[in-house]
Amino acid sequence: MKFSIKSIHPEKQRSACVVVGVFESGKMTQAAERLDQTSNGYLSEIIRRGDMTGKISTFLFLHTIPGVLCERVLLMGLGKQKEFCEKQYRAAIGSTIKALNASGANDATLFLTEIPLKERSIAWKIRQAASIALETDYRFEQFKSEKTSKGLQKLIFAVESSDQVVDAEEALAQGLAIAEGVTLARNLGNLPGNVCTPSYLAETALKLAKEYSIDCKVLERADMQKLGMHSLLSVAKGSHQPPKLIVLNYRGSTTKKSKGKTSKPLVLVGKGITFDSGGISLKPGEAMDEMKFDMCGAASVLGTLKAVAQMKLPIDLTVIVPTTENMPGGAASKPGDIVASMSGQTIEILNTDAEGRLILCDALTYAERFEPETVIDVATLTGACVIALGHVASGLFANDDNLAQDLMKAGNEAFDRAWQMPLWDDYQDLLKSNFADMANIGGRTAGSVSAACFLSRFTKKFSWAHLDIAGTAWKSGAEKGATGRPVPLLVHYLLKRAGKLN
Ligand code: BES
Ligand code: MN
Ligand code: ZN
Repeated sequence: MKFSIKSIHPEKQRSACVVVGVFESGKMTQAAERLDQTSNGYLSEIIRRGDMTGKISTFLFLHTIPGVLCERVLLMGLGKQKEFCEKQYRAAIGSTIKALNASGANDATLFLTEIPLKERSIAWKIRQAASIALETDYRFEQFKSEKTSKGLQKLIFAVESSDQVVDAEEALAQGLAIAEGVTLARNLGNLPGNVCTPSYLAETALKLAKEYSIDCKVLERADMQKLGMHSLLSVAKGSHQPPKLIVLNYRGSTTKKSKGKTSKPLVLVGKGITFDSGGISLKPGEAMDEMKFDMCGAASVLGTLKAVAQMKLPIDLTVIVPTTENMPGGAASKPGDIVASMSGQTIEILNTDAEGRLILCDALTYAERFEPETVIDVATLTGACVIALGHVASGLFANDDNLAQDLMKAGNEAFDRAWQMPLWDDYQDLLKSNFADMANIGGRTAGSVSAACFLSRFTKKFSWAHLDIAGTAWKSGAEKGATGRPVPLLVHYLLKRAGKLN
């Protein structure tokens, strides 16, 4: 789909479709009013007759309206005017894209971007609209014999005045970059485990690196052995697929590198379990297929990197992806096994299904060598996080409250929200082991907190946050599929850091 920005009056726009809104009270948006005036009350008459109630996401196509240059007008219901905020705005845009795709219109001009939203700039509205349009249009049909056809080819977002065009165009580019990052994350997540293996993720990273001239290296099993990553390697023992540690260095910062010292990078670490069977602590069969999504953390950090590279953000970003399958087998780790992590701390593996933390801890220790400004890891880490927060918010843990606040804000801004959970020392006792420095599980209570506590033992040397996306990375049921979260949150955080947010 092609996108552009235009400052124009709706009655003068020659599009296949012009999209305007109506509230439940019958009150029309400014653009709808203009169409109504040009057509001598054509729209208000329809509303008066009760053919358009204005209920949120209901809509009506009108054809060849007198005095109006476009072929169609799409009247979109906006709900109650008093309640109209971010959620309703997003819903209206999503419904518009669906309605347009089902119509005969190849192109459309949206005037919904002009509707005032409390405390939200035109840039925010355009960024959101572009992302939602592409995300609504998303299909994963690689393995389907029949593909659905899409009608809509071109979308124009209207802005009220010509001095908004520059801001809006920058926001459009940002929204599209975010959507591309989300799309990459969704595609990788949706791929089946027999296709998306650790090697496949490594190849994807190398391709991405080539496309955007990013430095990339892939550590193999032997390299990890030399580094002493026995915790990560212990998870790979049951699998026939070789594990990989993917490292990407994007260097976009323009600040002077004084005395040969480079600026400190931001590091993102993503859990890349391409299938989590549980290992010897085998999972029950129900919905086990969904454990192909256990690499969504990895997918999201790769998607974030793609968006950042596309926007050429002036920041330094390193992405680390530890990736392996978690499988049972004759060589697999067993409950009770003890391994030494790269940090030197020993771990008693009481449950082989708590494997995410085992691969992340070595990747986090590896991150130290980049002398990071901040490290954020993203992982589908615990079922307990889904119990705590459901599918709405990602779980957020941090050893740095400022960082936690910034990430919460970015999540609110992007409508990809996270909620902070405690990481108090009192919870550390859950990880006591009689035989090693720590156990890899903490018992039945506070499961997502004990998992975060485990990671915190490997992040003492830097400012760190952990996002548990077990409940937000994918949807189950009829709409089963990866969501691409938390790419929007992460990109917003980075946009803010780069000073590029309006
Ligand atoms: N990948 C899972 C977490 C998960 C489970 C995410 C269900 C989404 C839905 C993780 O590796 C895991 O199995 N965690 C265990 C930890 C437990 C053994 C301490 C869990 O949550 O049950
Ligand atoms: Mn597991
Ligand atoms: Zn897992």
